This record gives sequence, C-alpha cells and structure tokens, in this order.
Amino acid sequence: MAEPVVNPATQRYAVVTGANKGIGFEICRQLVSEGIMVILTARNEKRGIAAQERLKEFGLSANVVFHQLDVLDPASIASLVEFIKAKYGRLDILVNNAGISGIKIVGDTLILQEIIKGDVASVFDGGKPESVKLKASGTITETLEDAEECLRTNYYGAKSVTEALIPLLQLSDSPRIVNVSSALGNLRANDWPTQLAAYKVSKAALSAYTRIMARKYPSFCINCVCPGFAGTDITYNLGPLSASEAAESPVKLALLPDGGPSGFYFYRKEISSF
Ligand SMILES: NC(=O)c1ccc[n+]([C@@H]2O[C@H](COP(=O)([O-])OP(=O)(O)OC[C@H]3O[C@@H](n4cnc5c(N)ncnc54)[C@H](OP(=O)(O)O)[C@@H]3O)[C@@H](O)[C@H]2O)c1
Repeated sequence: MAEPVVNPATQRYAVVTGANKGIGFEICRQLVSEGIMVILTARNEKRGIAAQERLKEFGLSANVVFHQLDVLDPASIASLVEFIKAKYGRLDILVNNAGISGIKIVGDTLILQEIIKGDVASVFDGGKPESVKLKASGTITETLEDAEECLRTNYYGAKSVTEALIPLLQLSDSPRIVNVSSALGNLRANDWPTQLAAYKVSKAALSAYTRIMARKYPSFCINCVCPGFAGTDITYNLGPLSASEAAESPVKLALLPDGGPSGFYFYRKEISSF
C-alpha cells in the first residue's frame, strides 16, 4: 500500500493510548490510513516500538511515531506533553483507549463470554443481568488491588491524560476526544454490579466524564463509545468482532466533521444511552 500524501498545512495529529495491540493498534492503523499523523503510545517501550514496526507491514510507517505513555504515571504523561509541544505544537485528536479488566479468571475463560453476553443483552433488553445461570466452570476473581488498578487506569488515567493534553488540543481548529468506554458501564437503577464491578464502575465514570468535559469545552467534539465485543487480550479473545471492526467506531468519532455531535455515548456507530 502506498504511503499517504502529507499536506503540512492540513496535517492533523492524534494520540492513541494503549496502542501496542488490540483495538488501540487498529485505531492507529486506520487513522494513519486516513492521513492522520499518529503518536502511537504504549506503557512498554519494547511493545510500542514493535507495534510501530508492525505498521510498516501495512506500508504505513511514515505517519506514525512512538512515544512511551503509562497513563498511571504523571512523569510519563508530562513527557508526552513536552514531546508533542516541541515537535508538533498542538494536538487535534486524543483517543483514550488504554484499559484493563480488573479481573483474573481461573479455569474456563468462557465464563467471561457468558457474563458479558448476558450483561450486554440485558442493557438492550432491560432484563436483570446477573440472574442468568452460568454454564462455564471458570471462576472470576476481583481483588481489591485489581479493582483499584482498574479504576485508576480506565477512569483516572484517561482523566489525567485528557487534562494534561487539553492546552494542546485548545490550539487545534477542530479538537476531538474519544473515550473508549463499554456497554458494561451502562447505568441501571438499583443495581450494584457483583461481577466485573470495578470495570463497570470505571467505564460508567468515563462515560459520565465525557459528558461533563463536552459541556466544559463546547468547541470540542468529545464523545465516548463502546466499540462492541471484540476478540482481544482483555476478552481472552472471546468477542466475535475483530479488533479492526471494533476500531471503526472510535475512528469515526475521531474524524467527526466540525459541528458533529458532542457529549454522547455511542454503541458502535450509533448514538445510544448509557
Ligand atoms: N475488546 C472488547 O470487547 C472491548 C469492549 C468494550 C470496550 N473495550 C475497551 O477497549 C479498550 C481497548 O481494549 P482491547 O480490547 O484492545 O484490549 P487489549 O488488547 O487488552 O488492550 C489494552 C491496551 O491497554 C494498555 N494499557 C493497560 N494499562 C495501561 C496503562 N497503565 N498505560 C498505558 N496503556 C495501558 C495495554 O498495554 P499492555 O499491552 O502493556 O498491557 C494494551 O495496549 C479498553 O479500554 C477496553 O476496556 C474493549
């Protein structure tokens, strides 16, 4: 595939977090294909550089640079901000994609598929999610430490990165923020989750934060999206969608035209309620 032609006058710059694999990697690949200059970030330098190398296999190496970013580490966030400021002078698109599940599974991982399918179905059908009798024999554990790390990564990490990059986004003509949330974070009255609790709370908080930030920055387009159930490491490769298919909706929101929706939750490519 030929390298996209770069027009310096109209070049747009994007940061994607947690981009060394899965949906984040695919978001980078699709944005680069659209001619966006992508700063592919990963907490682990080796894995991030390997991802940058993999993009070369698609003939897409010129429009991507790697920078280390651990969303839990303020020094790492500050270093990314300085890098972008010095090299590009502004930022146009931020995709907060990095995330963890906050759980460990012992035994049959199909248990996760059953829970997610049941939960997501209940979001759309209005049923009670956790009353479904599970068939898989695996066990899910959620320790306090895992729960804390999950909240710190999925919500506070995205918030810290966003707040640090807002001044550079304000220098853009068309700033976009996309928060990769989850249908598992949809709110249901009188229901405190007993499974995947930290993950659900972290994504509910991220979706609410999206709405607050959209009100605070009316000249931005700031949205969150559940990309659908995809076969990646976080789902033990159990989801039916490919990472590439799941990446399409965050990419669409990253490339929204001026005057596009802001403050919304999308389920894949459609506006939904959370
Ligand atoms: N797959 C699905 O069905 C699905 C559905 C709804 C929402 N999502 C959301 O989509 C996003 C991407 O998930 P995925 O499916 O692509 O899972 P994945 O393949 O497990 O990718 C998660 C990415 O987040 C990175 N990450 C974790 N902690 C980080 C930190 N502290 N700093 C920077 N990066 C960090 C991981 O880096 P390492 O490689 O170093 O661990 C990895 O690159 C997540 O926010 C997830 O919650 C996924």
